[in-house]
Amino acid sequence: MDNRPIGFFDSGIGGLTSIPYMMRHLPNERIIFFGDTARTPYGSKSQDTIRQFAMQIGEFMAKKNVKMMVIACNTISATCIDDLRRQFPEIPVIGVISPTARVVAKKCNALDHIGILATRATVRSGAYIEMIKGKNPILKHLYSKACPAFVPLIEEGIIDNDIMDLTIKYYLDDFMRENEINTLVLGCTHYPLIGENIRRLYPDVRIISSSKEVVTAVQLELDDRQMLAGPNDGENIFYASDLSENFVNMIQRILGRDQEELNIRFKNLDL
Ligand code: DGL
Repeated sequence: MDNRPIGFFDSGIGGLTSIPYMMRHLPNERIIFFGDTARTPYGSKSQDTIRQFAMQIGEFMAKKNVKMMVIACNTISATCIDDLRRQFPEIPVIGVISPTARVVAKKCNALDHIGILATRATVRSGAYIEMIKGKNPILKHLYSKACPAFVPLIEEGIIDNDIMDLTIKYYLDDFMRENEINTLVLGCTHYPLIGENIRRLYPDVRIISSSKEVVTAVQLELDDRQMLAGPNDGENIFYASDLSENFVNMIQRILGRDQEELNIRFKNLDL
C-alpha cells in the first residue's frame, strides 16, 4: 500500500479529462495535477522545447514525492517519455499512447478504418501508428490527422457553439469521407472536451479516448507494484502555471464541483 499522490500532467487543461475516471475507478488515490496553461499549446512546438518543459514538470512532480507520474498528454508521451523515464528512474512513468494503442489493437479488426486525431507533434512522431501496428499487425487502415486549432479553442472555452462545430468539420469532413473512417481515436487529452460535438456530427463512428484508457494502465501498474492507496484523507491539488478565469471554469466543468471544493493553486515553472 502506498498513499503518496500520483502526479498527473498536461500542457493545459486536457489532462484533467482523465481525472473523473481516476476518481471513479480508484477513489482512494490522491492526485497532484499540473497544467502548463501559461505555455499551452505544446502540440505545435519543437521537440526540444516540449522536452525542456516536460523535464521541468517532472522535477516539480519528483519534489512533490509522487509515487507515479502519469503523462496525461499525448504530445509529451510521443515526444519524450523515454527521457522522463531516464531522468526519474525511481518513479514509474505512464504515458497515454501505449494504453490507448492496446485498446485499439484489441477492439479493432482488419476491416476497420481507424482515424487518429492528435496534435502536430504527436502525428509527426508516428507513435500511434507504430504502436498500434506493433500490437496488432493485421490492422492496415490507419490514418492520422493533425488538428492544431482544437487545443487553443478548447483552452479558450469555445466548445458549445458553431465555431467549434465548423472547425471540427473543417478538419474532419474530407478526412472521414476519403478514408472511410469508422473508428476515431482521440489522441489528445483535450479532445474528449469536444467528444459530444464529434459524436453529434459523426454519429455512426466508434470513439476511443486516450484520457479514459490511461486509467486502466495506472490501475494495473499500481496493482502490479502493490502500490495502490488505502483509504486516506489526503487531498487532491490542481496546479496551473496560469490561473486564468477559463482554467478555473474548465476545471469546475470537467470535475463538476464548485471552486471552493477544489484545491487550485498557481505554480510557475518557467524559472
Ligand atoms: N493535451 C495534449 C495532448 O494530449 C496537448 C495539447 C497541446 O498542448 O497541444 O496531446
